[in-house]
Amino acid sequence: MNTSCIIRGLGHCAPDSVITNADLERMVETNDEWIVSRTGIRERRVALNGETCVDLCFSAAKAALEKAGMQAEELTHIIVATFTPDAFIPSSACTLSHRLGISGRMAMDVSAACSGFLYALETARSILALHPEAKVLVAACDIVSSRVDYTDRGTCILFGDGAGAVVLSSGTPGASDAQVLDVLVSSDGAMGDLLTVKGGGSGTPYKLGDAIRRDFFVEMNGREVYKHAVRSMSSVCGEILEKHGYTKDDVDVFIPHQANLRIVEAVGKRLDIPESKVFTNLQKYGNTSAASVPLALSEAVAAGVVKPGHLVLLGTFGGGFTWGSSLLRF
Ligand code: UT7
Repeated sequence: MNTSCIIRGLGHCAPDSVITNADLERMVETNDEWIVSRTGIRERRVALNGETCVDLCFSAAKAALEKAGMQAEELTHIIVATFTPDAFIPSSACTLSHRLGISGRMAMDVSAACSGFLYALETARSILALHPEAKVLVAACDIVSSRVDYTDRGTCILFGDGAGAVVLSSGTPGASDAQVLDVLVSSDGAMGDLLTVKGGGSGTPYKLGDAIRRDFFVEMNGREVYKHAVRSMSSVCGEILEKHGYTKDDVDVFIPHQANLRIVEAVGKRLDIPESKVFTNLQKYGNTSAASVPLALSEAVAAGVVKPGHLVLLGTFGGGFTWGSSLLRF
């Protein structure tokens, strides 16, 4: 691909309300010690005040546009990565465009669960290859709490809500920009049943008057997901480094999917990247699904962890199964 893909601005957003491990202790049979030792998570932000996917995307997008020094009017394409859209129709991307005060653009949602951001980023790269003059907004958001069963201790302790956004265009990178060097994404539907949200889909429809069933919420075989997450994220991150002739020593900051600290540590160990180079914020957000990586990236940049010149490695894994990696040069 000849056209460059440059991140001109990054933004993130999370709801104000916090659910701590102590709060969860009052909801299900669990305890802070178990949650922290098994996952590293201490609290998560949850949309208790009715914030929607588009609400969070809007705030993250506004922040990204401001960093990029751009007006919404300049955007040509809007992509939202989510499995928890405001509605099936209209898409969250269409609603977000309207909220941004623009129309007449290509606007679409991308569904790849926790890998959604990298799938959307790869889509944006393809758009820029075809239309080098394009200015693409990628927003990744999940209101996972809307699909979490807060009586299921195996899942409710893990997830939180959040959003991250990037504004992309081609050309040469400015001092605070990042070049997307590559994106690798993959999937294997054979393992789809290990992590599902089926209820309400055409394969598991609801009729008017039906009570909400368990299948409306996230259902997961945690141990199996854990194993595959470690395996797939490690291999796709190793693959992208090798493809570009880099070694683990070239990586300045590694930002993996913020699913579980043990998964993050296991992937870091497999790649032999020292803990000091691995950025995590799952302790305060939990697993925010599609938002996880852009939210962490945006925070890492804002905190000065990612500096100009740094090589940043991203890794994702999610339901589908889907997984991916990306290399950014700041
Ligand atoms: O984006 C991808 C999304 N999914 C993931 O990333 C999830 C990946 N999987 C995981 O993170 C881990 O598998 C979990 C954190 C979900 C579970 O940790 P684990 O070490 O795999 O625990 P386990 O499921 O093997 O359960 C061990 C024990 C069980 O009790 P018994 O059968 O040994 O008596 C569970 O019932 O822990 C029990 N347990 C809990 N105890 C206290 C499960 N959840 C809880 C809980 N609090 N919240």
